[in-house]
Order: sequence, then C-alpha cells, then structure tokens
Amino acid sequence: ASTLGAAAAGSNRYFGTAVPTGKLGDSTYATVLDREFNMITPENEMKWDTVEPSRGSFNFGPADSIVNHAAAHGQRMRGHTLVWHSQLPSWVSSIGDANTLRSVMNNHITQEMTHYKGKIYAWDVVNEAFADNGSGQHRSSVFQNLLGNGFIEEAFRTARSVDPSAKLCYNDYSIENWSDAKTQGVYSMVKDFKSRGVPIDCVGFQSHFGSGGAPSSFRTTLSNFAALGVDVQITELDIAQASATAYGDAVQSCLDVARCTGITVWGIRDSDSWRTGENPLLFDNSGNKKAAYGTVLNAL
Ligand code: XIL
Repeated sequence: ASTLGAAAAGSNRYFGTAVPTGKLGDSTYATVLDREFNMITPENEMKWDTVEPSRGSFNFGPADSIVNHAAAHGQRMRGHTLVWHSQLPSWVSSIGDANTLRSVMNNHITQEMTHYKGKIYAWDVVNEAFADNGSGQHRSSVFQNLLGNGFIEEAFRTARSVDPSAKLCYNDYSIENWSDAKTQGVYSMVKDFKSRGVPIDCVGFQSHFGSGGAPSSFRTTLSNFAALGVDVQITELDIAQASATAYGDAVQSCLDVARCTGITVWGIRDSDSWRTGENPLLFDNSGNKKAAYGTVLNAL
C-alpha cells in the first residue's frame, strides 16, 4: 500500500492523526489528511472547556466540523476526552461538593456521548488520571478529591449506558515502560475492572516520546495489557526530532501485538505539532514526507 491508512488497513488496523478544526480549510493540510489517515482525534474540540464552557451550555460546533469532515472522507473518529483534570473549566474545578460534581460529571458524559452516538469508534472516557510521582496512585484532581478512587469506574459505567456501541478506553502518558509505577498502577486498575465487570474495552498509550523513542519494554507493556482482555492503541504518537528508526520501532511494537488495533500520531506537519521546535512528526512544514514516514510505511 502507498499510504499510511491503507497500509494499516492491510492488517485490520487504522492509522490516525489529531486534527484541529481550524486547519480543515488549509488545502495542503487537508490533502495530506485525506490521503494518509483513516482515523481522526479532535485535538482540542471535544474537551470539556470547549464542549461545556458553562454549566448546561453545550457547544458542539467545532467538533461537529471535524466529525462531518471525517464522515465525508470515510474516516473514523476517536472521541477525546470526557473526564480529564486539564482543559477543564473553572466552574467544574471549583465545585465543592460530591453530589453536585457526580451529577455534573455524569451529565457531561451523557450529553456529549448522546450528541455523537453511533459516530465514535472509541472514547477516551478518562484521560491522565494517574500520578507521575512514582506512587502508582491516582493524581489529585477535583474528581479524585471529591468522588474518590471510584470516579473512574463511575465514568465508565455511565459511558457504557449511553453508547453501548462505542469502545471505552482509558488513556494516559508515561505508561509505556513496563516497570514504571504509573504503568503498574494503570495495569492494576484494568485488571480489577476486568475482574469485576466494570466496562472497559481499551487502553490508549499516548506515546509522547523523547528523541530515543519508545522504551525497550513497550512491546511487553502492550502485550501484557492486551492479555487482560482489552484492545490497546498508540493514541498520540510524536517523537522529538522524529528519528526514522525510533518511529519504525514504535510502530512495529504495535504490529507485534495482535490486539494493538491502531496508531494515531499527534499532528501531521511539524508546524502542526503542540511540541514547538521539536519537529516530532512525519511531515515537514510544507507537507512533504520525512524519513520517518518511510520507516513507518515500511513497518505497516
Ligand atoms: C494538547 C493539544 O495538542 C494542544 O493544542 C493543547 O494546547 C493542549 O493539549 N495529552 C492529551 C492531549 O491527552 O489532549 C494533549 O493535547 C497532549 C497531551
């Protein structure tokens, strides 16, 4: 195959990218998007601060533009994200009592998932809930602090009841190295959810890597999570300076795991990246393929 999406489809996988609404009108950008990618994650437009900027006022316009583009070009959608401590409006983070927050969280999940019902392949139901401090525990957030450890389970149960056809994922960064406490914390949670019947279908590994790329245990990590009975995906891949070898290896790690169902890069051209100055993507600022594009296509 001669494109990333078609090559990934050869093994029943997808190849996706993050897309901001504001770039859909850039014809160079849209040409590469529609030629190469068959899965789209809205870069910011499905986050709480955009979707529900004040309580009960929903703004789906920016994300609708992306969903409509995807439908017109045969691309599937990853919903990103329903419950996250970041890009969270202050009216939510300043809620002071558990009952209010519980109903606000469940209503947000219900309204957003209902609006997109039937149009989303997988939802990042909860994003980045684990701490970076080596404890393997949840991070501090308004959700954790008011609702306790059970907030993640509650979010997944609510999500399943709203759109039973969407895959429900937990998504996080720095969970690629098997021995890290954060990885082990997420693994324990997924194992517990599967053993108790809490509805979870997939785990997203963001995979924002430094110039060395993925840790050598990445395959092991993907395969150990998959063995719990969930799909795994690489959801936000970017690699500082985009080493061709590092990109090829990261993609190969997914291909080596049967339940690794797809790979998404976090932007198209270097100039589209949130990591300013790191040139971490597969296309240069003019939309030309970089060396890493070749190793990725070759691996797929
Ligand atoms: C980033 C976007 O790329 C930026 O445009 C925005 O300013 C901040 O968020 N983890 C995630 C993504 O789950 O949503 C983040 O996206 C990158 C880190």
